[in-house]
Amino acid sequence: MMDWTDLHYRQLARMISRHTWLYTEMVVDKTLIHNPDHDRFLWFPPEQHPIVCQLGGSDPDELAAAARIVAGYGYDEINLNVGCPSDRVAGAGCFGAALMLRPELVARCCAAIAAAVDIPVTVKCRLGVDNNDSYEELVRFVHTVSTGSPVTHFIVHARKAHLKGLNPHQNRTVPPLRYQWVWALARDFPHLSFSLNGGVAGLDGVVTALRADPGPLAGVMVGRGAYHAPWDVLADADRRVFGGSNAALSRRVVLDTYAAYADAMVGRWGSKPDGWRAPSLRTLFKPVLGMFAGEPRARQWRAAVDAAFKQGAGSVRGVLDATLHVLLPESLDAAPREEGDGGAAGPAHEALRTLQHWEPELPPTPEWLAVERELGRGAAEREGGMPAAEEGEAGSASQDSALTAADKGGAANLRSGAQPGGTGSETSTSGNLAQGPAPAGGAATPGDQQQQQEESGAACKDDGASHDESWVLVEKQTSVPLQGAAS
Ligand SMILES: Cc1cc2nc3c(=O)[nH]c(=O)nc-3n(C[C@H](O)[C@H](O)[C@H](O)COP(=O)(O)O)c2cc1C
Repeated sequence: MMDWTDLHYRQLARMISRHTWLYTEMVVDKTLIHNPDHDRFLWFPPEQHPIVCQLGGSDPDELAAAARIVAGYGYDEINLNVGCPSDRVAGAGCFGAALMLRPELVARCCAAIAAAVDIPVTVKCRLGVDNNDSYEELVRFVHTVSTGSPVTHFIVHARKAHLKGLNPHQNRTVPPLRYQWVWALARDFPHLSFSLNGGVAGLDGVVTALRADPGPLAGVMVGRGAYHAPWDVLADADRRVFGGSNAALSRRVVLDTYAAYADAMVGRWGSKPDGWRAPSLRTLFKPVLGMFAGEPRARQWRAAVDAAFKQGAGSVRGVLDATLHVLLPESLDAAPREEGDGGAAGPAHEALRTLQHWEPELPPTPEWLAVERELGRGAAEREGGMPAAEEGEAGSASQDSALTAADKGGAANLRSGAQPGGTGSETSTSGNLAQGPAPAGGAATPGDQQQQQEESGAACKDDGASHDESWVLVEKQTSVPLQGAAS
């Protein structure tokens, strides 16, 4: 997520969970083609594997060229952004969620990327855009992309996007979540993989979604939740989702390791005559701010951090040394809370409430009713279900896809270990959104491209989330309910 889940956030996340797949901020294809400073957009320490680079664009040739550069950095996968709701992006060459309206073009883009690299290509999309929001249209999108390219894994942000009328923040909260459509896709395209995204803010929700099994999911992508509370979401993920042992011993140990990384990173991309270094100390400290979300004295600690910066802190370690005493020792030294194995009891029950976004007008399928029974949820509470697999476009498209997959040799889940019941939790990272139109009268310069990326990218950020000045904002966002009314 732009300006949130950058290289440094990912490094912190990787220190907390070894197996979770990490996604880069979105990188616009043109940026890589025109800006020679690729390291700044693509470099990552080897321990960040498994890692996916998300690309933005809509020109097959340019995406292929960008993909070659990405592959040179050793990424495990390339993901195409078909979910950014910005109308500015849509107007600037039709990419992001606007591409949902052009599945043939998405297929061509993915085929071009796949032909250029030898790593898997995946797609992150919405349920639809504007009034093009029927399940049949979504099926047509998946069918067209999966038959016209080697894509077999779709990460679905389970709400549609309104390209006009809603800003990016509203587009992540206002359109209702329809999780059952993702399960319906898994049911209708059994040879493909689907990961669910949107409104899942905690590990209980991840495990619940992976185990609710009307159609198996390949993974659950957690965006805002994993950013605002990285320890809560990730510290027990290796054990609970991947069946291994947890990577992190305690927050204190993670912060100690992170401080060594961060202080070595300050100024890696250069410095300005006024002494401003990129990345700056504040940029490097930002991912740490969510580490004590929900803990006693977390607010006082963040205030102490702010004060330390105002007094001219010289290093991340220095800020930590000067402020960690504000927190309780148990917050610092507690091992990851190992709670449950994901059953429906206890906290998972809470998670279920947010996982159930019913649609009144659609009857539940037998599969969904079985899940309900398993979860002990009564019919009286039910308001809807997932789209029925009936004859017609959806059904026939699904059959076509299955046939095509068989012709291709039965393409299935390219993500090893991403099967239900102990599989892929994915942490969304994204950012750097969008290309702008080339300036009149000639090709865009690297500077222009950078500016276009920043301008269009700004359209996809949450309101006002800007770089180093966002302390107050982070504080504010941290207190926003992560699974708010519309999520
Ligand atoms: C500040 C911000 C920036 C985002 N940037 C991107 C992006 O570049 N690419 C992308 O696919 N999704 C992006 N998203 C959307 C998230 O990846 C995710 O789909 C969305 O927030 C819903 O998931 P969540 O409820 O787990 O956060 C962004 C979200 C936020 C809050």
